[in-house]
Amino acid sequence: MLKGKVAVITGGSRGIGFTVAQKMAENHADIALIDVGNIENTQASCDMLKVFGVNARPYQCDVSDFTAVKATVAQIVKDFGTIDILVNNAGITRDSLIFSMSEENWDAVININLKSVFNMTKHCSPIFLKKHYGKIINVSSIAGLMGNAGQVNYSASKAGIIGVTKTIARELGARGICCNAVAPGVIDTDMTKDLPGRDKLIESVPMKKAGKPEDVANLVLFLASPVSDYITGEVIRVDGGMAM
Ligand SMILES: NC(=O)c1ccc[n+]([C@@H]2O[C@H](COP(=O)([O-])OP(=O)(O)OC[C@H]3O[C@@H](n4cnc5c(N)ncnc54)[C@H](O)[C@@H]3O)[C@@H](O)[C@H]2O)c1
Repeated sequence: MLKGKVAVITGGSRGIGFTVAQKMAENHADIALIDVGNIENTQASCDMLKVFGVNARPYQCDVSDFTAVKATVAQIVKDFGTIDILVNNAGITRDSLIFSMSEENWDAVININLKSVFNMTKHCSPIFLKKHYGKIINVSSIAGLMGNAGQVNYSASKAGIIGVTKTIARELGARGICCNAVAPGVIDTDMTKDLPGRDKLIESVPMKKAGKPEDVANLVLFLASPVSDYITGEVIRVDGGMAM
């Protein structure tokens, strides 16, 4: 499905990002994994992708850093020749109610979750424009649709991603570039394992269970593949019905 395509996935060494990478590698895409964490861990994740017979390389980069992203994208193009698919997945939480939310935690979440999407899209777009092809998939959250008490920074960043997605879809649609967002609900990863009130949240899900990273990865694969070529500017929930 993705043979000959090069996919860049941010926050790709574990969790949803790594599962997206596995799905894409299984479908024959070559993979550039960007993560801020230890390069050995990201290298180990790449080694796991090589069983699918694809090229997979790790890049250590803080995606909130404009200049570092520029250099990393240039290095990926040098290593792989091009980029066809960009998955903006890196994200963090720093939760607290507005009364105790620090400026530092507001800035960290906005910069890592939202500014990163600007940084990556800005530096990858010239490559997509030149080839009249590109698939951008942004990982938002139902918190960006509904809000969530204790997550004013996270909800703002994820709502911001939806604004970026729709704007990029309008700006670049005529140039063969699709930009869509996915909005996961509660997905079982390191990010949610200690989530306060997790059981109560799951109780509010019509399907009465958390999702798996594969549930999100299958949707991202669909949006990255040619079968979704006439879909852009869309936000698709993958949440067991939680936010309907
Ligand atoms: N797990 C959920 O329930 C859920 C729900 C909705 C949305 N999401 C979103 O899905 C995405 C992936 O979440 P996850 O659950 O797999 O989380 P995770 O914590 O397991 O993985 C996030 C990855 O991003 C990387 N990362 C963090 N800061 C970075 C930075 N500055 N630069 C580069 N990489 C960085 C981390 O090192 C990690 O590998 C996030 O954007 C998250 O907000 C998750």
